[in-house]
Parts: sequence; C-alpha cells; structure tokens
Amino acid sequence: MTSKPAVLVTGGAGYIGGHVVLALREAGYPVVVLDDLSAGHRAAVPGDVPFVEGDIGDIGAVGEVIADHRIAVVVHLAASASVPESVRDPLRYYRNNTGASANLIRACVEGGVRRFVFSSTAAVYGVPATIPVPEDAPKVPINPYGRSKLAIEWMLRDAAAAHGLRYVALRYFNVAGADPQGRAGQSGRGAGHLIKVACAAAAGRRDHVTVFGADYETADGTCVRDYIHVSDLAEAHVAALRDLEEGGGGRVLNCGYGRGFSVREVLETVRAVAGVPFEVREGPRRAGDPPVLIADASRIRAALRWSPRHDDLEFIVRTALSWERKLADADGVAGRRDRSSAR
Ligand SMILES: NC(=O)c1ccc[n+]([C@@H]2O[C@H](COP(=O)([O-])OP(=O)(O)OC[C@H]3O[C@@H](n4cnc5c(N)ncnc54)[C@H](O)[C@@H]3O)[C@@H](O)[C@H]2O)c1
Repeated sequence: MTSKPAVLVTGGAGYIGGHVVLALREAGYPVVVLDDLSAGHRAAVPGDVPFVEGDIGDIGAVGEVIADHRIAVVVHLAASASVPESVRDPLRYYRNNTGASANLIRACVEGGVRRFVFSSTAAVYGVPATIPVPEDAPKVPINPYGRSKLAIEWMLRDAAAAHGLRYVALRYFNVAGADPQGRAGQSGRGAGHLIKVACAAAAGRRDHVTVFGADYETADGTCVRDYIHVSDLAEAHVAALRDLEEGGGGRVLNCGYGRGFSVREVLETVRAVAGVPFEVREGPRRAGDPPVLIADASRIRAALRWSPRHDDLEFIVRTALSWERKLADADGVAGRRDRSSAR
C-alpha cells in the first residue's frame, strides 16, 4: 500500500477546518494544523494531530512547518470570514486574506509543495445574473471579503502558470450543520451564519434572531441561499486531494447542492426541528448581501466524482441544533462553576 502524503490544513482549528481534519484523517492522510487561533479553538483539533500556532503570513514559520513535517499538500482554509466585518474593516481582510495568502503560496513554492486546495467562496460572484450560478459567470464581488478571496484565486492561477503549482479552488456556498457524530461543530460566538444563529436561539444561547431585509425581490422577501452540510463539504476536500494525486489541477468548483432556501424557510425548519419558539426580529438589509445565491453544482460532481450525502435541510438543522445544545450544556456547567466560585 502506498502511504498518503502529509497535508497541512491552515485554519484547521476553525469551524470548517475542524471537519476537514476529521475527513482527511478518516481517508488516511497524515494531517498537521496551522492556525493562529484568532477565531479558532485549540480544542477543535484532535489531541493526536500535530498543531502549530502561527500565522499563515509568516513565510519563515510556514517554511519550517513544511520542512519539519514533509508537507506535500496544503489545504488552505485560514481566513477572516465575515462579510459585515469586511465592510467595516476592509484593509484587515486584504491583509489577512489576500496578503497573508500570497506569503503562504510563496512559502509553498519555495518549500516544494506543488498541490494546493483553497477555500474560496460564492461571494466572488456578487449578485449573479444567472441562477443557479455556474463557475464561469462574471466575478463581480460586492464586498471586500469576496474581493479579498477572488484575488487569491488569481494568485493561484498565476502561481500555477509560473511555478507548476496544481490547485483546486472550492467556492463554498452557505456552509452549515455539524459533524453527525457530534465530534465537531461551529463554536465561535461571533459567527453570524443564519442556521447557527437560529439554532443558538432555539437552544437558549441567544435571545433572538434578526432577519436582515424582508423586502428583497424573492418569493417571501427574504434572501435565498444554497446551504451545504459541512461534512459533505469536508468530503469534497478529500475528493480534491485525490484529484490532485491523479494529476488534476487548475480547477475552480462550486460547492453547493444546487437548490435554495429563504431565511423564513430556514427559520421555520429550525422551529419545527427544535420544537420550541424563539423570537424573530426584522431588521434592515445588510450591506454586501446579494438576494439569491444558488450554485450550479454540476461541475464538481463530474470533476471530482463527489456526491453529497446530506442534502436535506432538516438533517443540516438537526446536526447544528444538537451541537448548539451541547454548547448550551457546557455554558450551563461553566455558569454554575463561575457562580459557585464567586460565592
Ligand atoms: N462558513 C461559510 O459559510 C464559508 C463560506 C464560504 C467560504 N468560507 C471560507 O472557509 C474558510 C473557513 O471558514 P470558517 O467558517 O471555518 O471560519 P472560522 O473562522 O471558523 O475558521 C477560520 C480559521 O482560520 C484561522 N485564521 C484566520 N486567520 C489566520 C491567519 N492569518 N493565520 C492562521 N490562522 C488564521 C482562525 O483562527 C480560524 O480557526 C475561510 O477561508 C472562509 O473564507 C466559509
């Protein structure tokens, strides 16, 4: 049996990275995680996975990790990933996403890494003229986050031409849910994703959910998104690695299911699955939110022989909710501990 190449997962202490680490390990890859813990959690990385706390923009540190662990492939998820925050603080996004990724890619080229998988985003499309949106649709991002990620796709294309780097860029649509076995989930309190927020409200960890805009030109006035289960997405990374091992490269692929749900439909599903009411408030539109984003999801199925297992909104919500209830239990324990030590 041939042994699998060592994989460096940047951002592996984050939400999606944590699931990617689980999937890669299950597929037999030795994994190393590099994360600066700016948004991730050390506890999200399994204890027996080598963990390096550091910045992807630090060329020297990344070079050392590549050499020390004989890294052959990089799966690059580390980024600042909030659209509203990118509107408020754009230069941080150009530094931490675009600038730091330029350094990471350079460290790969200099360190002999020739295979690269990149977490891109549906935000590169902006407000697409065609729904579902195919990969070759115009890329006109409408927020700094999308622009900061699109520039990384361009850098990869240029590094591929100049340095023989082979890459797969995965454009994630709306990632949601949690590991069905309860080993991982989305922990960041600041995370603003709808399913996470609604499940947090249903689990009593938030007092309400805000609907940002109910006057869009959609069937019920709220935004429509293509929600993909995080474990299916993690499997797409395994498929991308297999493709690169077989000589593939230069691929840019949408990661979604090819169907959409409105904000109201999602909230209704969370209510039904949770069996408890929670408060919903209506607020104004948020800057940088397109009305409808649905993937044309045909290319990835053909290119990577990937097929999803969890294309079911109720299942996505159920896994997200059980993770949120677990966090609520932990909050309760911590709260009781704090109260008793204050006495
Ligand atoms: N969540 C989504 O729906 C979604 C959609 C499209 C694309 N993405 C992309 O997926 C990736 C992962 O997103 P997520 O939702 O898991 O977010 P996350 O914040 O949970 O994970 C990002 C991780 O990267 C780390 N990080 C950030 N900057 C770093 C740096 N300079 N050096 C080292 N580590 C750094 C953070 O500590 C965190 O652990 C991001 O690249 C994001 O742009 C996410």
